[in-house]
Amino acid sequence: MQMLDVIIKKRDGGVLTKEEIEFVVKGYTDGSIPDYQMSAFLMAVYFRGMTDEEATTLALAMENSGDVMDLSRIKGFKVDKHSTGGVGDKTSIVLAPLVASLGIEFAKMSGRGLGHTGGTLDKLEAIPGYNIQISPEDFINQVQKIHIALVGQSGNLTPADKKMYALRDVTGTVDSIPLIAASIMSKKLAAGADGICLDVKVGSGAFMKTLEDARHLATLMVNIGKMCDRKMTAILTNMDEPLGFAVGNSLEVIEAINTLKGKGPKDLRDLCLYIGSRLVVDAGLTDSLEEAEKMLVENIENGLALQKLAELVEAQGGNADYVYHPELFRDADEIIPVYAKTKGYIKRIDSYHVGRASMLLGAGREKLTDEIDPIVGIVLNKKVGDYVDENTILGYIHSNGKNTNEAIEMFANSFEYSDEKVDVKLILDVIR
Ligand code: URA
Repeated sequence: MQMLDVIIKKRDGGVLTKEEIEFVVKGYTDGSIPDYQMSAFLMAVYFRGMTDEEATTLALAMENSGDVMDLSRIKGFKVDKHSTGGVGDKTSIVLAPLVASLGIEFAKMSGRGLGHTGGTLDKLEAIPGYNIQISPEDFINQVQKIHIALVGQSGNLTPADKKMYALRDVTGTVDSIPLIAASIMSKKLAAGADGICLDVKVGSGAFMKTLEDARHLATLMVNIGKMCDRKMTAILTNMDEPLGFAVGNSLEVIEAINTLKGKGPKDLRDLCLYIGSRLVVDAGLTDSLEEAEKMLVENIENGLALQKLAELVEAQGGNADYVYHPELFRDADEIIPVYAKTKGYIKRIDSYHVGRASMLLGAGREKLTDEIDPIVGIVLNKKVGDYVDENTILGYIHSNGKNTNEAIEMFANSFEYSDEKVDVKLILDVIR
C-alpha cells in the first residue's frame, strides 16, 4: 500500500478502508510515513471529512498504537470524565473526589493546558508537592486503596495521538470533528474506564462554536465508546462565559475547594452534580438521577468529598493542608479591579479572550515548553445576566507584573452588553 494513494483517495472524497486507516496510523507512529505526507492526509480529512465508520476505525487504530491500561485489577466500576477544553473549567478537581467519596473508582489521566484553555494537571500542580507523574502500577494501587487518582499520562499510551496532535496543531487541522473524536476517544479507550462522561463545550471559548457541530462530535464519540462496551454520556455545555468565577491555576483550585465545601459558584456546582449523578447511576449505586444527586450533596455537606480531595493530594505527594486552609495559597503581587466601560446587562463574556488574558499574565502557555505561573489569573466579579454600570467591577486581575495592561484591556473587552436581561443555560443537551 502507498501513502500517496491513500492521500489522493481522501483528497478526492473517497471512503477509506480499515486496512488503509490502520496503515496510515501504524506508518506515522513508526516513522515510515513522513510529516509532509501525514500533513497532506490530515488536510484532506479536514476538508473531506470522514464517515462515522472511518472515524471509529481511526480511533481504534490510534488506541492500539501503544500501551492500553488494564484496570481489571481494580474491582468495581471505573469511571472517567473528559472535557473538550474550556476556560475556568476546574470540574475534574471537584467531580473526581466527589464521586470517589461514594466509593466509585475514579481513575483519570488528565492533560495540560494549551493556548487559551487551562489543563487539570497545571491546576493540580499549583498545590505544593502534588506529583502528576506516577507509574501505571502506582496509579492502579492508588485507585484500589483510595478510589481516586488524578495523574498525567503514564506509560506509552496512544503515541499516534501525541504525534498527530502536535502535527495538527501546526498545520491548521485541529478543529476537524472526526479528528477530534478519534483523538479524544483513542485516549479515553486506552485509559481503560468502564464509564465515561464527556463534557463537550460549545461557544466562543470552545473548539465547537455551534450546537450542531457539538452534537455531531458528541454523538460520534458516544457511538465509538458504545461500540467498545463503555457506558457513555456526553453533555453539551455552554462556554459563552467562563465556568465559575476563577480562571488561573491556584485560583481555580481554591474555587474547586470552595465548591467541595458547598460554597462554590452555582454553575460549577450544578455541572459537577449533573455529571456526577450520571456516573453514580452508571456505576449502579442507584437507578435514579435524583437519588444519585442527593447522595452527592450529602457528601458535600458532611465533608467527605473534601476529605477525599485531601486524601488524593496526600497520596500524590502534595501538602493536604492547602485543601483545608486554601488561604495558604500565595497571592499575586497585584490584584487590580477592572471596571465596566458602559452600562447594561452582560450578554456574553468571550471565554476565548478571558482565557487569552489569563494566559498573557502567565497562567497558561503558548507552547508546551513554556513555564506557567501558578498564582496569576483572573477572578470574575460579574457573570452573564448581571446588570453593570461604569462603577461596577467586572473582575480582578491577579498579576505578577507580566503583560498586566494588555490583560486588563483584553479582559474588559471580552464583555458584551445588552439592554435586556439575558438568561444563561449551562447544559444545552445530553447524548447517551
Ligand atoms: N482534545 C483532544 O484531546 N484532542 C483534540 O483533537 C481536541 C481536543
